[in-house]
Amino acid sequence: MVLLLAVVGVVVYRVMLAAPDKALATEARVAAILEEGGCLSCHIADAELPFYANIPVAGALVKKDIEEGYRAFDIAPLMEALANGTAPHPVDVAKVERVALNKSMPEAKYYLMHWGSQMTNAKADIVAQWARDFRAAYYADGLEGERAGEPIRPILPAENIDMAKAKLGFKLFHDGRLSIDNSVSCASCHKLTTGGVDNHQYSHGVQDQLGGVNAPTVYNAVYNFVQFWDGRARTLAEQAAGPPLNPVEMASTSFDEIIAKLTLDKALTAEFESIYPEGITEATITNAIEEFERTLVTPNSAFDKWLMGDDNALTAQELRGYELFKENSCATCHIGANLGGETYELMGLRRHYFEERGLELTEEDNGRYKQTQEERDRHRFKVPGLRNLELTWPYYHDGTRATMEEAVRDMALYQCDTKLSEGEINDIVAFLRTLTGEFQGKKLTNPYEYGVVIDHDDEHHD
Ligand code: HEC
Ligand code: HEC
Ligand code: HEC
Repeated sequence: MVLLLAVVGVVVYRVMLAAPDKALATEARVAAILEEGGCLSCHIADAELPFYANIPVAGALVKKDIEEGYRAFDIAPLMEALANGTAPHPVDVAKVERVALNKSMPEAKYYLMHWGSQMTNAKADIVAQWARDFRAAYYADGLEGERAGEPIRPILPAENIDMAKAKLGFKLFHDGRLSIDNSVSCASCHKLTTGGVDNHQYSHGVQDQLGGVNAPTVYNAVYNFVQFWDGRARTLAEQAAGPPLNPVEMASTSFDEIIAKLTLDKALTAEFESIYPEGITEATITNAIEEFERTLVTPNSAFDKWLMGDDNALTAQELRGYELFKENSCATCHIGANLGGETYELMGLRRHYFEERGLELTEEDNGRYKQTQEERDRHRFKVPGLRNLELTWPYYHDGTRATMEEAVRDMALYQCDTKLSEGEINDIVAFLRTLTGEFQGKKLTNPYEYGVVIDHDDEHHD
């Protein structure tokens, strides 16, 4: 009898663990795997608490799981896309793919209590194949074969640029007259010859006023879904309207003041009028800057050559670094052409970054919360892109990490709860160095010494 029960038990267990029916559409099979996996119990906002949630000890544990699960990942948009047959967000796809491949979700303590929820090899294979097929169909960037399924995508050359506007935008980007005392231009903080950044922890505006957050690069910013760490500008043009009037950056009092200065310049006025019938306005200034910034893309990196089929473009160490970058779930938040810039993500997902940083909390540390006042958005930041990373130190919104090695080590710790070995860090950094691309046909460089954060006394604005 006991034997019989055991046999029946094993058979039932096997059936419950089996991957969904092959006859189902891929989306339906993936949805079934996620539902069986209990993902919805812990990863949606108003998750129904299971029946044992009211049992004191188990209950507390479960509520905590749900709170932390929802904090870590909201699965609702993905489930909706699977049900409606619409395109899911590539970051959601990458996250689910990664926990499936790593078998890290659901956690053992969950599947031991919920038979059939465990992630098996067969289920993980289905999820992984779906993710790769999704990407091959989703991105129109010409990747072929195996590589069409990669989470990181090539930078494409700028297209459909209005060259007259872009040329004007280039001039404005370097024009000090956008600042109150004519001393600071966009390029003061985003030098095109130093990776599009200033290599300061915090930038220095007019009269050497100090900002409170690290300046991201302008290269490939066109790929970001919104601009600024807290996403407060939806477009590059909207972004460009910010710094001129920002009191610690360019400190002009109004666009009228800027326009009055620029109008004194007859050649510039004529150039504006030849492109824009309305002449010099806030809208035309920022439109021209946006058009120029659309040209700031950096294709032809070694990594992109590899993506496009050149097997010799990467060394064995660089390839190992890329594999580690995927295995350690870096390529869940850092994906797409810019390896980021597609979502807001929590800084300190798996470990308390701000508590351990040893610095006072600042307004900027609130991240997206500054804009929404939603508790869930506190410490969430637009994920920075990682292109040309070797030129854009120091790192993080607070500019506290001087080298890529430190930035990578601490990302693994705070975002992935992993302590990487020195060798693994070096491999990942070797991979990250392959992301340096070309601007106007030349590989980008930065003449400053790698990892040395510029002290503002050492240089003057140009
Ligand atoms: C019992 C609750 C629970 C279930 C069931 C569960 N998760 Fe999680 N999940 C968590 C918690 C808690 C975290 C926060 C990370 C941590 O501290 O382990 C998390 C983290 C995650 C993350 C963030 C990345 C990471 O590794 O931290 C993803 C993605 C994720 N889960 C996906 C899933 C998927 C997909 C399923 C279903 C196959 C699932 N989870 C099932 C509780 C759960
Ligand atoms: C005084 C230094 C300074 C000046 C001048 C300056 N910026 Fe910035 N820039 C920054 C800082 C700091 C940030 C980040 C601010 C934030 O996220 O809140 C930033 C952010 C940006 C971003 C967003 C990038 C991203 O990944 O989110 C773009 C694009 C940008 N600046 C372009 C410009 C343009 C165009 C101008 C001129 C109109 C300009 N900047 C002038 C320092 C400066
Ligand atoms: C949960 C999403 C997430 C994961 C997983 C993640 N990152 Fe990040 N990454 C971020 C966010 C958000 C920031 C910005 C943090 C800040 O500025 O405080 C960031 C910043 C960085 C930076 C600094 C970029 C800059 O210009 O300042 C590097 C380098 C980086 N990540 C590499 C990695 C590596 C390597 C891994 C894997 C070990 C990883 N990240 C995993 C979200 C993530």
